[in-house]
Amino acid sequence: MQIPFLDLRAHHASMRDELDTAIREVIDSSAFAGGPFVAKFEQEFAAFCGAANSIGVGNGTDALWLALLALGIGAGDEVITVPMTFMATAEAISYCGAKPVFVDIDECTYTMDPDLLERAITPKTKAIIPVHLFGQTADMDAIVEIAKRHGLPVIEDACQAHGAEYRGRKAGSIGAAGCFSFYPGKNLGALGEAGAVVTNSEELKNKIQMLREHGQAKKYYHTLIGWNARMDGIQGAALRVKLKHLDRANEARRAHARFYDQQLAEIEEVILPTQADYARHVYHLYVVRLQDRDRVLQAMADRGIACGIHYPIPVHLQEAYRFLRHGKGSFPVAERCAEEFLSLPMYPELTTTQLETVVHEFKSLINASKRTYERTA
Ligand SMILES: Cc1ncc(COP(=O)(O)O)c(C=O)c1O
Repeated sequence: MQIPFLDLRAHHASMRDELDTAIREVIDSSAFAGGPFVAKFEQEFAAFCGAANSIGVGNGTDALWLALLALGIGAGDEVITVPMTFMATAEAISYCGAKPVFVDIDECTYTMDPDLLERAITPKTKAIIPVHLFGQTADMDAIVEIAKRHGLPVIEDACQAHGAEYRGRKAGSIGAAGCFSFYPGKNLGALGEAGAVVTNSEELKNKIQMLREHGQAKKYYHTLIGWNARMDGIQGAALRVKLKHLDRANEARRAHARFYDQQLAEIEEVILPTQADYARHVYHLYVVRLQDRDRVLQAMADRGIACGIHYPIPVHLQEAYRFLRHGKGSFPVAERCAEEFLSLPMYPELTTTQLETVVHEFKSLINASKRTYERTA
């Protein structure tokens, strides 16, 4: 049996007719760039997040970049984030001309460790970006409290956390702005590239709306130097369809995670993901930790099961950030996790047979390596 890491074809099958109709409506109305389908999605997504506004943009990287620009972040500034994230979080900071400053992650939630945050703040710090990694929010109360004391805005990188909750509040609605990616494989994925910023601030909303459209509030009257970061009409229409299915899809992910949790609990050699008491985790990824990760990854692939690594190199050790001169050992938790993380297949349409097969093969591999170790020890 071949088990993919993610099966978008299966994911779209149950909503295929609705998607076809939505796309046809966009073609019939020629509303391809921005327009009414994007505007409707913006309203519905803001309501879903429990926020006043959402602004559709080209992708999650644009969302982070424009949120930072709208907050006035620029050359000479520092923005604090984590080294265990997708590269885009740091790239957005760099593309404002600012410097990413890293704070290590918590050993259990894999999100920003609030105990390490305050000592990273300097007079140059202008914002903090916690990342809600793998579908679980960072400890927002602790982070927001420190940020408030220093007068700093918090931008949530919620690109992996559509529908996740922190103490009953939706990811993205807690900080000054929340940034989302709708890359196809996300919990809420478009049929191409798309993203959004969610905010309760009218001022930030207006600024981001201008920045995404060449700095204009009125056609051909440019107040700011902006960019083209509009969302496509087809993505807006498709996302409206898919948003209606998001709660159900997240529930399915959570049920699969419970199954993995129960079935893998007895394996001492493997650290399972933990859901913090403050969190409603939506398992964008189900990530376990183990020694000998690369061998297990390959052996699972040999048995037809596609696993992933998110992420093999923490951002501070990426070639692109060599100039920041962070050596190995600078952020030990992130570095250890990068060596041990293994993402098991996770998508709403995984069947019971597929889940059982993943568990069976994974367990037998871990037990086999235990026996080899015992023989050679
Ligand atoms: C944590 C995180 N931040 C930012 C991004 C960037 O989003 P996009 O790929 O839509 O630009 C992603 C997407 O992979 C992400 O996972």
